[in-house]
Amino acid sequence: MPTPGTRQGQPGVRALGQTVGYSHCNERFRGEVALVTGASRGIGAATARAFAAAGAAVVLVARDADALAAVRAGIEADGGTALVVAADLTRADDAARMAEPAVERFGRLDAAVNAAAAHGGRPTPLAGLAVEEWDRTIAVSLRGAFLSLRAEIAAMVPSGGGAIVNVASTTGFEAVAGLAPYVAAKHGLIGLTKTAALDHAADGVRVNAIAPGPTHTEQLDRAGPAARERVAAAVPVHRLGTPDEVAAAALWLCGDQAAFVTGATLAVDGGLLAGQPPFGASVRSRE
Ligand SMILES: NC(=O)c1ccc[n+]([C@@H]2O[C@H](COP(=O)([O-])OP(=O)(O)OC[C@H]3O[C@@H](n4cnc5c(N)ncnc54)[C@H](OP(=O)(O)O)[C@@H]3O)[C@@H](O)[C@H]2O)c1
Repeated sequence: MPTPGTRQGQPGVRALGQTVGYSHCNERFRGEVALVTGASRGIGAATARAFAAAGAAVVLVARDADALAAVRAGIEADGGTALVVAADLTRADDAARMAEPAVERFGRLDAAVNAAAAHGGRPTPLAGLAVEEWDRTIAVSLRGAFLSLRAEIAAMVPSGGGAIVNVASTTGFEAVAGLAPYVAAKHGLIGLTKTAALDHAADGVRVNAIAPGPTHTEQLDRAGPAARERVAAAVPVHRLGTPDEVAAAALWLCGDQAAFVTGATLAVDGGLLAGQPPFGASVRSRE
């Protein structure tokens, strides 16, 4: 009898307990199908590339079809397999259909990482926040995640289940002033992750989240070196994370080595959520 939470016995998936030598790590999703939302750039694109490098066929979801095609071309140039699905995840019908091409083309869906989000505009104290700004951010970052989960779980259950990772943020635990909709969405996403994990554990679907700290993606790249240095100085390890480091955590949570992990949120934050420096001291002054 298969162990709940693993995909033992399914085609192309190694048996539970089979030793995974380091040299085989890059094959650990061979024969599996993974879907990544927000795959057009940043953490989502890095996660899609990591799945492809680990042997999975990857479905790339976001709005920008050209950017997705560029990610697909990179994956294919490296010998991988990828499919582009242009979808606006604020639209319920787009989201409901996004997993269909995975099942039509590859026959199954085993893993999904929901990285799509809207960051909101300029930091604004709550009382001055435009309702439209609230709605726009929540629509992608929380409602869009709910819609994505629904479609992914429906696609996974017929072939015995799978694993999903929602990309939350350290702001899902600790607020940042001026970012009410983003902070609320990320707190909500962690609650949504727990509920989805409970609701679908018996279906063989694991649902977890990751909480990245400041990560060197396009947004921080545009902010310039001085801003990046300031942000990095607040991180205990004194640097920004990389998209590849966040992707590695997402893949671990999707893999069979995390078969007993569901409803959890893993911080990938260089120690940011661990606590604070001594009163009156910056983290850097402890060097
Ligand atoms: N970068 C960081 O420091 C950091 C830290 C903590 C958490 N995170 C989280 O990590 C995830 C990725 O962030 P990132 O900085 O790598 O990328 P990002 O610049 O926030 O990109 C977001 C992604 O979401 C997609 N997206 C936005 N609106 C969408 C919509 N309506 N429908 C479908 N897709 C949509 C975008 O693609 P299109 O524009 O092509 O649609 C893009 O691929 C996000 O959830 C973010 O909150 C990031």
